Amino acid sequence: KETKDQLIIDAGQKHFGATMCKSCGMIYTASNPEDELQHVQHHHRFVEGIKYTGWKKERVVAEFWDGKIVLVLPRDPSYAIRKVEDVQELVDNELGFQQVVPKYPHKTKTLLFISDEKKVVGCLIAEPIKQAFRVVSEPTGPETPSSKECQRAWQCSDVPEPAVCGISRIWVFRLKRRKRIARRLVDTLRNCFMFGYFLRTDEIAFSDPTPDGKLFATKYCNT
Ligand code: ACO
Ligand code: ZN
Repeated sequence: KETKDQLIIDAGQKHFGATMCKSCGMIYTASNPEDELQHVQHHHRFVEGIKYTGWKKERVVAEFWDGKIVLVLPRDPSYAIRKVEDVQELVDNELGFQQVVPKYPHKTKTLLFISDEKKVVGCLIAEPIKQAFRVVSEPTGPETPSSKECQRAWQCSDVPEPAVCGISRIWVFRLKRRKRIARRLVDTLRNCFMFGYFLRTDEIAFSDPTPDGKLFATKYCNT
């Protein structure tokens, strides 16, 4: 008898309201075909990664023993832009961002880290900015909110400081983390953001960092 009750409850959860996929983390409505399709697509990309077979005209800005970094600019061919949009969609789903419009503003610079297995395993999206606000403290103590969204509400100084380059997204494929891919993406960005000039760490700013992003940024800027 108990099992039957359980079955009914499960069926209800499957068909009404939001479900969270245990492997890819996406929250979607299983009864909505559009949502379901979006989940299948995200799930596949999350597990398999995004393939990169190579482009005739690619801008390789750095090469390493385990991969290379390719720069994509707004006026590049549509296949390159589409690849960036695919990656951004995966990243935004993972970070829980709703779709951001416009998707590809004309001053954006995107770096893709391509692994030896011909997959996009890292992505950095940057744009020029004029000022940024320093993160002054982090929420601590017993009142620390536990939901992911609340953890993002860092305290910021209200005094603007000059900055040059804003990093709106930085992401590394989950199986490739802690291999210095993010570090190499930021190093490369500092080198190629402005022609002939190597950006200082205080000239770059991370927008709305996640806990992972903040740990990385703190470490990166102190070394
Ligand atoms: N916890 C603690 N320290 C960390 C972490 C972490 N999760 N990630 C990086 N660091 C520190 C470490 O000191 C590390 O050096 P070590 O491995 O020698 O100790 C150093 O930063 C350099 O790390 P990398 O290996 O270069 O970082 P990685 O390639 O793993 O990428 C990233 C870091 C991009 C934050 C990755 O964890 C990720 O994609 N997370 C999910 C997406 C995300 O939250 N992105 C940030 C959003 S904020 C924004 O986009 C502006
Ligand atoms: Zn899934």
